[in-house]
Amino acid sequence: MNPLLSRLQPYPFERLRELFAPITPNPAYTPISLGIGEPKHAAPELVKQALTEALGSGLAGYPATTGTPALRQACADWLQRRYGVQVHPATQVLSVNGTREALFAFAQTVIDPTRAGATVVCPNPFYQIYEGAALLAGATPYYAPSDPARNFAVDWDSVPPEVWERTQLLYVCSPGNPTGAVMPLDEWRKLFALSDRYGFTIASDECYSEIYFRDEPPLGGLEAATQLGRTGFERLVAFTSLSKRSNVPGLRSGFVAGDAAILQQFLLYRTYHGSAMSPVVQSASIAAWNDEQHVIDNRAQYRAKFAQVTPLLASVMEVALPDAGFYLWAAVPARWNGSDTDFARELLAQYNVTVLPGSYLARAAQGFNPGQGRIRMALVAETAECLEAAQRIVQFIQSNP
Ligand SMILES: Cc1ncc(COP(=O)(O)O)c(C=O)c1O
Repeated sequence: MNPLLSRLQPYPFERLRELFAPITPNPAYTPISLGIGEPKHAAPELVKQALTEALGSGLAGYPATTGTPALRQACADWLQRRYGVQVHPATQVLSVNGTREALFAFAQTVIDPTRAGATVVCPNPFYQIYEGAALLAGATPYYAPSDPARNFAVDWDSVPPEVWERTQLLYVCSPGNPTGAVMPLDEWRKLFALSDRYGFTIASDECYSEIYFRDEPPLGGLEAATQLGRTGFERLVAFTSLSKRSNVPGLRSGFVAGDAAILQQFLLYRTYHGSAMSPVVQSASIAAWNDEQHVIDNRAQYRAKFAQVTPLLASVMEVALPDAGFYLWAAVPARWNGSDTDFARELLAQYNVTVLPGSYLARAAQGFNPGQGRIRMALVAETAECLEAAQRIVQFIQSNP
């Protein structure tokens, strides 16, 4: 067996199952889960319709790994409309089967494990695929902590120069999961300068880009590069997904865009890996990228939901409306002595509400776990259910003084 498999960490939900195994949730309440970040709003009719229509011709023949010219054009057009960014669809865009597989495969493409000390830098807390991708590529992850005092911006300055020297790949996540933090232009400027100096590639995970709560839509990596005159997107690839934007996590559709030379190698890797997107899914994806109204409606639903739920929770715990994303990243009250796992366990036992302990989404590094003492709540269910969960959390905190 591949010995690197043994370096993989259990997924947060596996750890949650273990944590909850001895617990009998209070049967007086129906179960509500804020644990899993899976979109639950309705999938758009136009996507379903395009899927059905494509069935007629879409199952015959193998698809090209690149995606069809029509799909790549639709992605490029969307980048232009959303970010004012110009990419060449034939060289700077590739379709991917959701960003999860692409984020993983990307490390397998860009990491050279024969170079001493191959390192992948990622935020902490973070989406666990970054870590698994680094480990299976034969690299060592380095975790850069997010700073609660600066709206959970990642403290890139804390990464020592000798780590940057060994770094081959940097994952960034903006809007962040779980913090919701959006990277401003200055942060991008800093990371581009580091990439120029040390030669590493930046993988920019932007799958929450369309769910935001500020007036300004989140800045994208390619947009930041363009604003800073880096129109060739040197050493930068952005990962964009339909899962959250269009409520179709089951479609498995996204795309990557950026540095043409890197994407050429990524295409080579993907050709052998067999990661072509079904033509049926490609047709539905074109319909989704070409329509913005369902995205506006979806965002409005999240905004209404967060506007109701956040103040309720803020009355009993430290939590604020994030820049973007669909998570609340809250501090557990002092009564739990910083134990996010005790909080999650007791909440389930007493009120049958599931939340994810923040420490499961982060690693202990440089002497501390930056997820410790926090919980992640995914507000993906309908507003009434999220409100009910929030009311129970308020009662839970008030009844455990
Ligand atoms: C930060 C982050 N990146 C990427 C993904 C993968 O999304 P998908 O594979 O559906 O595009 C997720 C899914 O939850 C995520 O939270």
